[in-house]
Amino acid sequence: MSLTFEPFANAVEYINVNSQIVSRWFETMKQKGERQFERLLDLASGAGTMVQLMLDSLPKDWHKPLIVCVDRSFEALEITRQRLIPKLTEKIECLCTDVEHLNVSKQSTDVVTFGNGIHYLDPEKQNQVMDRVRDSLKPGGWFFFNTAFYREARPEWTLPFYQKKVRLAVQKLREKSVTRQKEERRPTSADFLPRDHYEKLVTNSGFELSDVVEVEARLGQKAWELISGYSQYAAGALHGFPTEEAAAALQEAIAPAIEEFGRTDENGNRYISRNWLAVAARAV
Ligand SMILES: C[S@@+](CC[C@H](N)C(=O)[O-])C[C@H]1O[C@@H](n2cnc3c(N)ncnc32)[C@H](O)[C@@H]1O
Repeated sequence: MSLTFEPFANAVEYINVNSQIVSRWFETMKQKGERQFERLLDLASGAGTMVQLMLDSLPKDWHKPLIVCVDRSFEALEITRQRLIPKLTEKIECLCTDVEHLNVSKQSTDVVTFGNGIHYLDPEKQNQVMDRVRDSLKPGGWFFFNTAFYREARPEWTLPFYQKKVRLAVQKLREKSVTRQKEERRPTSADFLPRDHYEKLVTNSGFELSDVVEVEARLGQKAWELISGYSQYAAGALHGFPTEEAAAALQEAIAPAIEEFGRTDENGNRYISRNWLAVAARAV
């Protein structure tokens, strides 16, 4: 079992919601008179989804920016590089480092994106990243980020789905005599910091808040099974259990949980809604 993020990154629901968000970021830039940018820095690139969507959304008369991708995983950067090379004329630069230790030249960048990753950092590390992003941006440069791990991400009616899948998964693990390591700390992504935390993070770090929006995504059974197979998701939902076993148990629990607590869409498919918070900020 690979436990990487890549399978979920290819889920149609994930591409759609991130694509809507990226389009909105371009609208925000255009409304503020932006007509071009030279250099894009993408933090926690993973499978390269954000860069891919940024390139896909680039207006036809804007030229392709130089691209720098950052991730702590060398394997993720390799996937990103292979995926993006055919789309680019310039070389893509990849930095294998933690985003909180990012070290790029001051005022060298026009746009920074940080897709679906800020919730892995505790508030202190988030502040460190904000400082580094602000230093890297030219005056008036843009910082865009999004997350589906914040307090308002899970509508009230969806909570029984999460409770049920965790209960079923724990039951499965017990049947297999897999036990929890009690001393292990819950990962930061499970803290679900509220929307206003992210707004304050931006304004307290020398950025102007340009746009904040919440976008609903309807995730079907397959998408939930895929995200449950991602190590960082499984570790958040079932912290303390061995990750591989936890991921497998969660995946098995999705079908009965979505059957009982999901809603039905116009095509007769069950889904659970999840909200994405998307933030556009400007260095002042
Ligand atoms: C959920 S994926 C997001 C990928 C992509 N940005 C997207 O929006 O689809 C998270 C990525 O963040 C990386 N990551 C997590 N914490 C990190 C950190 N502190 N520094 C750098 N990369 C990190 C992981 O290696 C993984 O590739």
